[in-house]
Amino acid sequence: MRQTSLSVDLETAAACRSYIMRVLVITGAGVSAESGIPTFRGEDGYWRNFSAAKLATPEAFERDPKLVWEWYSERRQRISNARPNAGHEAIAKLARQADEFLLVTQNVDDLHFRAGLANEAMVQIHGNIFVTRCCRCDFRRDYNHEHEDVLPRCPGCAALMRPGVVWFGERLPWSELQRVENYLDRGACDLVVVAGTTATFGYIINWALRASRCGGELIEVNPEETPISQFATQLAREPAAIALPRIVDATVSYSH
Ligand code: APR
Repeated sequence: MRQTSLSVDLETAAACRSYIMRVLVITGAGVSAESGIPTFRGEDGYWRNFSAAKLATPEAFERDPKLVWEWYSERRQRISNARPNAGHEAIAKLARQADEFLLVTQNVDDLHFRAGLANEAMVQIHGNIFVTRCCRCDFRRDYNHEHEDVLPRCPGCAALMRPGVVWFGERLPWSELQRVENYLDRGACDLVVVAGTTATFGYIINWALRASRCGGELIEVNPEETPISQFATQLAREPAAIALPRIVDATVSYSH
C-alpha cells in the first residue's frame, strides 16, 4: 500500500496494459462534499441538532414524518443549487474513456448525472432524492409532483409518500442490486476507485474486492482511513475534487 507517486504508479501500471480498462467506481457523500452537500457522518452530519444518520431511518419517519420531509426538502434545495465539482467531472471523463464502466454511488443527489454521466453507466444504490414513493404500495413518481406545504399522500392508497431513498436497515433495491451483480459477474476490473465513502456497509467492501480480484488496481480517495484502506493498492489521502482529476488524467493518457 503506497501513498506517494500515485500518478507514476498509475502510468506504469497502465503502460503495461495493451487494452483500455474495465472500471468500477464507487462513490459516497465525500465526493459531493466539495459541491457543498453535507456528508452523513462527522461534524457535517447534523441538521437542527439531529444526526443525519438518525434522520435517515424508517423509525424517524414513523415518529415524525414532517421533520424528515423538511430535512429532505432542504437537502433537495441545496442539491438543486449545487454544481458538480471536478471530482464528478473526472469520473464522467473516465467513463467516456473506459471500455466498460460502472459507477455505483451511494449518493442520492444528481451531481454525477449533471456532470455528464449517463444513467445507464450508474447505479444509485441508495435511491434518488428527486423521486418519491408510497410507504405502502409500489406507487412512485417525480418529486416535483409533490406539494411542499403538506405531507404528500399516495393517490392510489392514501398512505404517506416518502423520499425514494434507502434508509438505514432497509433492503437495497432489487433491480439496482442486480445491475451491480451482473457487472461484477461479467468479469474482474482493471481499475477500481472507491472515493469519499466511509465504507461502513459490507456490500461496498465486498464489491470493491470482488471487482479487483484478479490483480486490478484498487485506489481509495479519502482524506481519512476507512475499512477499504487496508485492501487498497494505492491511497490518495486528499479531497476527491483534487485527487480524481489527477488519477483519471494519468489513467486515460497512459491507457491508449
Ligand atoms: N473528498 C473525499 N472524501 C471525503 C471528502 C472529500 N472532499 N470529505 C469527506 N470525505 C470522506 C470522509 O472522510 C468520509 O469517509 O467521505 C466520507 C463521508 O462519509 P459518510 O458521510 O459516512 O458518507 P457515505 O460513506 O457515503 O455514507 C454511506 O450512509 O447515511 C447513509 O445512505 C447514507 O449513502 C449514505 C451511506
